[in-house]
Amino acid sequence: MPQLLEAFRQVTEASAFAGGPFVARFEAEFAAFCDTRYALGVGSGTDALWLSLLALGVGPGDEVITAPNSFMATAEAISLCGARPVFVDIDEQTYTMNPALLEAAITLRTQAIIPVHIFGQMADMDPILAIGRRYGTPVVEDACQAHGAKYKGRGAGGLGVAGCFSFYPGKNLGAFGEAGAVITDEPELRSKIQMLRDHGQAAKFVHSAIGWNARMDGIQAAVLSLKLARLEASNEARRAHARLYNELLEGIPGVVRPNEAAHNVHVYHIYAIRVQNRDEVLQRMSAGGVNCGIHYPVPIHLQKAYGFLGIKPGSFPITERCAKEFLSLPMYAELRPEQIDKVVQTLKESLQG
Ligand SMILES: Cc1ncc(COP(=O)(O)O)c(C=O)c1O
Repeated sequence: MPQLLEAFRQVTEASAFAGGPFVARFEAEFAAFCDTRYALGVGSGTDALWLSLLALGVGPGDEVITAPNSFMATAEAISLCGARPVFVDIDEQTYTMNPALLEAAITLRTQAIIPVHIFGQMADMDPILAIGRRYGTPVVEDACQAHGAKYKGRGAGGLGVAGCFSFYPGKNLGAFGEAGAVITDEPELRSKIQMLRDHGQAAKFVHSAIGWNARMDGIQAAVLSLKLARLEASNEARRAHARLYNELLEGIPGVVRPNEAAHNVHVYHIYAIRVQNRDEVLQRMSAGGVNCGIHYPVPIHLQKAYGFLGIKPGSFPITERCAKEFLSLPMYAELRPEQIDKVVQTLKESLQG
């Protein structure tokens, strides 16, 4: 708390509220953490995805491939560019894009591929990147739930041409409000995003493109610098909680535990199990004093907003089945073992009815 108050004082004294030196410092720190050349602070994870696609030239008439098992923002960013989201079903073990289904979704209109590192586990990137290379299609990682996650030793966001992060307060690295970032090694992409996030300005009051106001606030950057220093420790705490959950849930009939692929370091933004009769189990858990979540009850392709795509139920069977069964158990770094125990006891009772 004293550190936070001191950070607020510094930002206030410098009047560095929008953009400015605290944002530049956080960008340098986050780029170093992700082992990329550049990080660009923006207003949210949605901005990060949208501006990355815009900077890559995605526009009306284009298609962008992603997974339907994600938060709405992944597809929204595609639509905001005027492009059409095209979905590929997920793998039943990791709940991320199934690379075996990707190639069939590529058309002459495909301009980008967005794998989503859902729940804190990275998608199977090597085959996705290989397909991207073969078709000359850039891969943009939605790493909004995967700060610090790893795939074969490589950090989330650093494998594609751009990696997009959300610092929404509930994330593994959360701000005190809305914030996001794009990481990239590409100088051209960096300068385009820098311009687009700031009204298309190439220099003060010189506008080379129509952009938007998607700058990061100085206060958010100062908070994020402080919290970044603790990210690895809090991810480790989440991983320890996941191990305890896994142990306690072992052998409970009807419970599918999350699966960590051998080549992944999962950071458990969400610890999602799968159960039958999920909605009743959720209600009983709540009555027993344990609040759980559902991520996400309706897959993106079945949301009313995407009704115009005309995608019928049954089109992505793994995503649709999982959406009926997912139950997110409490997960945050400060959880205590006795709380995890209580969650598991309540779950056992809730499963019995
Ligand atoms: C997978 C995914 N993509 C994109 C976003 C959008 O991020 P934000 O809420 O910061 O705009 C989120 C945030 O919840 C997310 O979980």
